[in-house]
Amino acid sequence: MTIKRTWWKEAVGYQIYPASFMDTNNDGIGDLNGIRSKLDYLKDLGIGFIWITPIYESPNVDNGYDISDYQQILKTFGTMEEFDLLLEEAHNLGIRVIMDLVINHTSNQHPWFIESRSSLKDDYRDYYIWADGTINGPPNDWVSIFGGSAWEYDETTNQYYLHVFAKEQPDLNWENPRVKRELFSMVDWWLDKGIDGFRVDAISHIKKAPLETSSTNDPFESFKNVPGIETHLEELREIFKKRDILTVGEANGVSADQAHQWVGETTGYFNMLFEFDHISLWNKEEHEILDVIHFKKMLTKWQNALADGRGWNALYMENHDIPRSVSSFGSEETVFWQASAKALALTFLLLQGTPFIYQGQEIGMTNMPFASIDDIDAVDTKNFYYEMIHSGVAPTKAMNVIRRTARDNARTPMQWTAEEYAGFSKRKPWMVINPNKQKINVLDELSEPDSVLNFYKQVIHLRNRNDALIYGSYKLYLADHPQLFVYGRRLGEERFVIIINLSKDFASADLPENVQIEEWDLELSNLNDQVIHQHTIFAPYEARVYKHK
Ligand code: NOJ
Repeated sequence: MTIKRTWWKEAVGYQIYPASFMDTNNDGIGDLNGIRSKLDYLKDLGIGFIWITPIYESPNVDNGYDISDYQQILKTFGTMEEFDLLLEEAHNLGIRVIMDLVINHTSNQHPWFIESRSSLKDDYRDYYIWADGTINGPPNDWVSIFGGSAWEYDETTNQYYLHVFAKEQPDLNWENPRVKRELFSMVDWWLDKGIDGFRVDAISHIKKAPLETSSTNDPFESFKNVPGIETHLEELREIFKKRDILTVGEANGVSADQAHQWVGETTGYFNMLFEFDHISLWNKEEHEILDVIHFKKMLTKWQNALADGRGWNALYMENHDIPRSVSSFGSEETVFWQASAKALALTFLLLQGTPFIYQGQEIGMTNMPFASIDDIDAVDTKNFYYEMIHSGVAPTKAMNVIRRTARDNARTPMQWTAEEYAGFSKRKPWMVINPNKQKINVLDELSEPDSVLNFYKQVIHLRNRNDALIYGSYKLYLADHPQLFVYGRRLGEERFVIIINLSKDFASADLPENVQIEEWDLELSNLNDQVIHQHTIFAPYEARVYKHK
């Protein structure tokens, strides 16, 4: 079988949230030199590319997702020279580098916005979306994803501007061709530098419905994957198409049925998408236990939608916007923590698509037991907390919800060692450190053969060595089993089956007919000494990978 080899299909990605990754100048905030100092660690893990979340000039209202200069590095992270060194050193190790592209909005401190707001006649006025108010106040009833109205009144010109996220993140007006030209030339500038692609932030929001539209079903539907968005995306694709790069769109609101149009091999806008069916974004509910059947269904829907060359998946269980997967979908309890972290690794790393590991996931980092709202930095979480308090929710209850849902759970400093500041910094970091650094840290896990870290390494290396786990087809078995996730990968004669118990209880099942014990070798297991039987019992969070002989 001839395979059309593609680097971004074969490589395993690693997402770096720079502020919390590694601090080398000891100001309590991670930096570019910190990333450079850990490239060998990433290489050893088997990583093929890193995605660095925004490192551009920014007032940091939304931690870098509010950019005030697209072509400068934020001073706390370092300099452009250090970035160039990082790029060079990563490339020397065979690690590619992709950057975050935030082009739905800028910071309100971006010179374009400062100009734009200065007068109705300003040359940059139409770079953003301005409208007159109504007798009710804002131009319409649209609400911001970060809470409250999506409109902010600006007294200089007596109009409102639109912001899908925080009020300090005004939305760019993609209907203005000048805006697109400026953005595209910036994209080219970064690509000319030699970076290897982009994760494209909030891209499904660039098109807005007519302002008269009222939201009915979904509060964000007037700016989520609105018809007409194709025109903008086609233009963006023309820029991307010129190079051999990885592009992954953050595509909240794009369904599996539409995915082909977005990531189809020849006509898609991106190589792959971050979908939000198996993990909900901006979740405000505390979810207690994983609904295994639903979870498998969601993953399988995307696997099937993009099968047979119709496209490619981006695979993930964590990122900087969602709580830690072990805490949400596995278990923090001492007896289960390690097995569940490993089980969750197998739920996504060996599916069809490009896996993205989020920093700390590979050592099984968990949610933070935040003591109070003062420990929280994320703007949306604070808004949400105070909304709850104003609506009469008791502070203790509100904090419980925050602990389960806050995205800062994923932003506590990386736990490199058990030291006071977790080997992340020599001084108190910008964000609280999880006290479980004593138990969960890179240094200890490197030397412990059964650690979560070593398991990740084994799984990544297994994927790196086997084409079937990259290019092979996907098949779900036992779809209705409420505890087990069983899937197969196949490329010609090369076959794998992965069996994962995603629950705290023992699980039993008749394994599929074509998984006959004598024909399969156990490649990997998160518990020791397992023997496969046709009818067998799986321990809590037990996970195994079999390869056909
Ligand atoms: C998605 C990013 O991942 C998130 O961190 C950010 O707050 C919003 N987009 C706005 O840029």
